[in-house]
Amino acid sequence: MARRVAIGNNKGGAKKTTLAVRLAEALAKARFRVGVVDLDPQGNASRRLGWKDDPNDPPLTTSEAIEANAEGVAAQVWQPIGWTADYAERIVLMPARFTLEDRATEAGQRGAYRRLAKALKGADDHLDYVLIDCPPSLGHLTQMGLAAAHYALGSTEPEHDSVEAVVRYRDFVGASGEDLANPELSFLGVVVSAYDMRIGAHVGQLDGARKLFGDAMWGVIPRRSLITNADEYAQTLDQQSDSHEVRAVFENLAQRFVKEVPAA
Ligand SMILES: Nc1ncnc2c1ncn2[C@@H]1O[C@H](COP(=O)(O)OP(=O)(O)O)[C@@H](O)[C@H]1O
Ligand SMILES: [Mg+2]
Repeated sequence: MARRVAIGNNKGGAKKTTLAVRLAEALAKARFRVGVVDLDPQGNASRRLGWKDDPNDPPLTTSEAIEANAEGVAAQVWQPIGWTADYAERIVLMPARFTLEDRATEAGQRGAYRRLAKALKGADDHLDYVLIDCPPSLGHLTQMGLAAAHYALGSTEPEHDSVEAVVRYRDFVGASGEDLANPELSFLGVVVSAYDMRIGAHVGQLDGARKLFGDAMWGVIPRRSLITNADEYAQTLDQQSDSHEVRAVFENLAQRFVKEVPAA
């Protein structure tokens, strides 16, 4: 079984998807085999990884994997991503489209919160890591992600509302293991993204986050337009000019990830 990590924050714009996509990129470059589960009906991770939906022949997505309520069904859903870099062949995707929203309304059905875990059972043994990109909520979809995960990682901007929301995610993870029949679930730490030292509020919030999270502060990603551009154009960081510094930041983050989450 791959080691599964749910990336979350109950606020939108907290750079969760960027963290999932760029961590997948850095891990694949380091020769790990990575699965990305897009658990957000917005499907941002899917699009940024270059995946394209086909309305004439719609591929299976996270929504169908959950709806099937069947062990191991994820094996039929993994798809290649659209990037052409050589390391992209080590990333597979469980894509999402807006219909994933329909699964959120099924929270009341018996055992619904276990359905992603069930879908992944035996279906990620060929992978080292699975990164689950959660929606900006602590609702049913995120709970399904947490029920399937071994670990949770928080993402935040260095701004008050975002830090408050990642604390909420951390506390929710800490309190939910038993309820989600996943008592081993543990919170790894927090990544602060889009830090701009010219903004006084960022300096203050980063300082506060360091005190608040201590060793669980995993790292700081600077605010850089090339990150927005790579996401916008569904490209790799390698394709952006002058991306050396940013690539090094994500590669360092991937090193910490591998240390704290040893591949099985
Ligand atoms: N370090 C960064 N510097 C600049 N822009 C960033 C950075 N990280 C993420 N972004 C951009 O911020 C926006 C929101 O990020 P996103 O990952 O979609 O957040 P979330 O998934 O938490 O809603 C996206 O346009 C993304 O490209
Ligand atoms: Mg997102």
